[in-house]
Amino acid sequence: MTKIIQISDPHIVPHGQLAYGRVDTAPPLAECVATINRMLPLIGPIDMAIVTGDLTDFGTAEEYRRFRDIMAQLEVPYQAVPGNHDIRDAMRAAFSDQDWMPKTGAINWRHDLADLTLIGLDSTVDGASHGHLTEATLAYLREQLSDLKGRPVIVALHHPPFLTGIEKMDIQNLRESRPLAEILSAYTGELKLICGHVHRNIVSIFGGVVCQIAPGTSHAVSMDQRIGAPNCLTKEPGGFLLHEMRSGLVTHTIPIGQFDGPWLFYSDARE
Ligand SMILES: [Fe+2]
Ligand SMILES: [Fe+2]
Repeated sequence: MTKIIQISDPHIVPHGQLAYGRVDTAPPLAECVATINRMLPLIGPIDMAIVTGDLTDFGTAEEYRRFRDIMAQLEVPYQAVPGNHDIRDAMRAAFSDQDWMPKTGAINWRHDLADLTLIGLDSTVDGASHGHLTEATLAYLREQLSDLKGRPVIVALHHPPFLTGIEKMDIQNLRESRPLAEILSAYTGELKLICGHVHRNIVSIFGGVVCQIAPGTSHAVSMDQRIGAPNCLTKEPGGFLLHEMRSGLVTHTIPIGQFDGPWLFYSDARE
C-alpha cells in the first residue's frame, strides 16, 4: 500500500528573521519533521513526502540551505514543487543534486510508486503571486496521464484551481482552471489533485476529482470570507496530510506536535 505525506508552505526565512515580521517558521517545520518521524512506527512505512510549494519565503540560497538542513532529519525521501514564494532557478540550484529536479524549464516531474503515481507540476510565474500552467506544462500532464492508462494518480501543484471564498487568495488562484479540469475529467482512473498556497485544509470536487489544499506548517491564511477582507495570517495549529492507497485513495489530516495520550478508551477488554 503506497503512502505519501504532504507538507506545505513552510516559508523558511534566514536565521534570526521572522516571516512577515511575526512568524518563526523554521521551528514548526522542524516539529513537523519530528512529528512524522515519531509517528513512523505507527503509520509507516511511508514511501515518500512531497512539499507543495513555498518552501522558502523569498527564494534565496540561504533559505533553501536552511530548508534542506531541517528536512535532512526527515526519515522519508521527499520531492517538491515550487510556490509563488519560491524562485524557480534558485530552487533548481538548491536541489541540483536530486534526480527528480529537471535541469531546465518548469519544475515538473513524475514519480511511480508501487500502486500509485505522483506527478508534480510547476504553477509559478516569475515575479507574480498567481498560478499559471504553461502550454508545455499542460502538455506534459496530458502526456503523463495518457501514458499511465488509468493507474491511480495524485497530481500536485501549489496553486488551487477552485475558489475558496477567501478573496485575497482567490485572486491569486490558478488561471488555467478550465484546461486543467478538462484534462483531469478525461482521466479514466482514480485521480486526486493536491495543492497548497491557502495554508488551510480545504476540500472540493474539481473537474470531477477530489482536490485538497493542505494546511501550512507554521501559519494559516485567516478564515475571513467577507468581501474586501484584508489579507491576514493567523497562528492556527499547523498540520500535514497523509495520502494512502487503500481500496481507494484515503487522506488523513494530522496536526503537528505532541499531544496527551494515547489512552485506552476502556481499561477492561471492551473495544
Ligand atoms: Fe504559502
Ligand atoms: Fe503560495
